[in-house]
Amino acid sequence: MSENNMEVKARKTIQHIHPYTPGKPIWELQNELGLTRVIKLASNENPLGPSPKALEAIHCSLADIHRYPDASTSNLRQAMASKLDMKPEQFIVTNGGDELITLACEAFLEPGDEMIVLTPSFSEYEFGAHLMGATIVAVPLGEQFAFDMDAIIEAVTERTKILCICSPNNPTGTYLSKSVLHHLLDVLPKHLLVLFDAAYSQYATAEDYTDGLEFVRAEYPILVLQTFSKIFGLAGLRVGYGAAPEVIIRQLLKVKEPFNVNALAQAAATAALHDDEHLRLSLQANTQGREQLYRAFEKLRLPFIESMSNFVLVELGLNAKAIYEQLLHKGIIVRYGGTWNLPSHARVSVGSESENAAFIQELTEILHRISIR
Ligand SMILES: Cc1ncc(COP(=O)(O)O)c(C=O)c1O
Repeated sequence: MSENNMEVKARKTIQHIHPYTPGKPIWELQNELGLTRVIKLASNENPLGPSPKALEAIHCSLADIHRYPDASTSNLRQAMASKLDMKPEQFIVTNGGDELITLACEAFLEPGDEMIVLTPSFSEYEFGAHLMGATIVAVPLGEQFAFDMDAIIEAVTERTKILCICSPNNPTGTYLSKSVLHHLLDVLPKHLLVLFDAAYSQYATAEDYTDGLEFVRAEYPILVLQTFSKIFGLAGLRVGYGAAPEVIIRQLLKVKEPFNVNALAQAAATAALHDDEHLRLSLQANTQGREQLYRAFEKLRLPFIESMSNFVLVELGLNAKAIYEQLLHKGIIVRYGGTWNLPSHARVSVGSESENAAFIQELTEILHRISIR
């Protein structure tokens, strides 16, 4: 039966929703092509794996999984509050950062409200807006994917309810400076919530970068998204959080399911938060790996965007899609730019030294074959 013939009608607004396309999983490519070696550089995961302290915490919690998890995630919120010098009431813990986006949309968007998204960026903001029947207002990033403050301000109307800013931005790796965010928060109407997605903040080293938390402490209408999926290496457990002034968190809690974050995820995230050594090593590996990719792209004369994150957007030209597909056949998964309407680009996650080296070698050979054709 086709959707059109179905008599039980789904809500009109969800017709606009296109299911999220994740980075191709390793097992899928292995099944499709019978490959033994598959390297995934497509979902910005931590190539060092999870924090050993998180693994230990999971082992210690296993015998209790017949119990429901703590619905209010008290330990984790307390740990975040002490670490970040904030109050536990300024946090909400979610089933990955993705859930925070949905909760923010459910709590704040009425049908017909507008949500500003900057393009290209993370697609889940649009999912949340469509879910609620809100209108998406897309504002393109500027030259070299820099943030265009004037264009953002110009796009704001009386109906704008949420402005999504991803910094460092996925997939470009560019960021919004602290002074520009401060200015935006000062001039934007106070009925507007800034959803500041700082999923990759721990990788950002620029002096004028902000993870947005100082503006939460100063009580601006800002909701900072954080995740344990990236530098903390816990993507498979699904845990993230939002930080915002208490009055905003209280609205989000109204739409949250009681047991949204499982017990193992809570224990692991609390332990990972305290694993400074894992964090340090992950950051160091990323800085070195990113350099490794930069040097290779320079040698191959491929333009790329300098990144404040754990991925690099590289321009592969007219053959980008074919190159992406040939990499897949060699067991290397990157993310093709078509997802973001960037058909000449690919986004490459920073892997371990050997993963990056394998990618560079295969890419070099593919480009060589194309050039002699
Ligand atoms: C910019 C950005 N925000 C949020 C997320 C959500 O992360 P998670 O749901 O794994 O916490 C991702 C994941 O890739 C992301 O790239």
